[in-house]
Amino acid sequence: MKENIEKLLEKIKNLQINSPEELENFRMEFLSKKGYLNEWFDRFKELPKEQKKETGQMLNLLKQEVNRIWEENKDKFSDQSEQQHTFDLTCPSEPIHLGSRHPISIVRNEIISIFERLGFIVSEGPEIEDDWHVFSALNFPPEHPARDMQDTFFIRKNPDILLRTHTSSVQIRVMENQKPPIRIIMPGRVYRNEAISSRAHCFFHQVEGLYIDKKVSFADLKQTLLYFAREMFGIDTQIRLRPSFFPFTEPSAEMDISCNLCGGKGCAFCKYTGWVEILGCGMVDPNVLENCHISSKEYSGFAFGMGIERITNLKYKVKDIRLFSENDIRFLKQFSSAI
Ligand code: PHE
Repeated sequence: MKENIEKLLEKIKNLQINSPEELENFRMEFLSKKGYLNEWFDRFKELPKEQKKETGQMLNLLKQEVNRIWEENKDKFSDQSEQQHTFDLTCPSEPIHLGSRHPISIVRNEIISIFERLGFIVSEGPEIEDDWHVFSALNFPPEHPARDMQDTFFIRKNPDILLRTHTSSVQIRVMENQKPPIRIIMPGRVYRNEAISSRAHCFFHQVEGLYIDKKVSFADLKQTLLYFAREMFGIDTQIRLRPSFFPFTEPSAEMDISCNLCGGKGCAFCKYTGWVEILGCGMVDPNVLENCHISSKEYSGFAFGMGIERITNLKYKVKDIRLFSENDIRFLKQFSSAI
């Protein structure tokens, strides 16, 4: 036994540990549960008394030597790995990739700022609505097709809870809580049960406008919308109002602008008409005012609503509205120079 311990002492006398693997091997070989130290101390217990003194001394020597090697080397490699991670301050820095605003947000902000210059202020309402705010208060008759499951996403029936199909619901919420004069602009997301295509999606964004005061006329509406169209699409833009129908406005109209691609001459985009439709509008129906406890004898007003996707299509010549919700970075980063 003495000779074996001497051999081990010899082996480790000039031991050089040069890698974390070698350190681990050393630890396993000598210090682990099944390593030499434990093994020899176990055997030492069995030795006859007369051999114990000399072998014991050798064994203690081995133990000291193993511990010395361990102490000297155990931190060596963790130090080294720390050193590898120190920073080279002379290296050029990683480029910072700035995000960009979503085109829908850019256009929404632009629409808002145009109307803010006319004194409109922003109001918002919930996307999950009840029948009253989306349909009934807005003068929709009980059998109107918009109340059908095919057009509207219902969350619950009787009493009906649904995803709003237009931002006109916010008009009602504001008129129920505020006395005229009211001059508000209402941006928000809306939902419709439609097949998804390049021209339609099951969710999109609208901006609604509402102005209620004494003696508000259709001429006020027309001038407001002309101002908007020229601020948004350029000073040469022409507008045209076509008679239309909405349950909550009377009279109602749809507004076209002169095609900003061909300047009104006619092209494939405007289907050779020279005009493209951008919004619905009209004078607030007296029934709607009365539903919100506003006297229709004292007050009148106008409302309009436009799809932000549609305006963005025109402004940035985007042909497929699905691009707005796919979050393809190659599409989105093209808008990084816009604010
Ligand atoms: N709410 C209508 C729509 O979603 C738009 C509109 C708003 C029309 C206000 C007239 C007045 O199509």
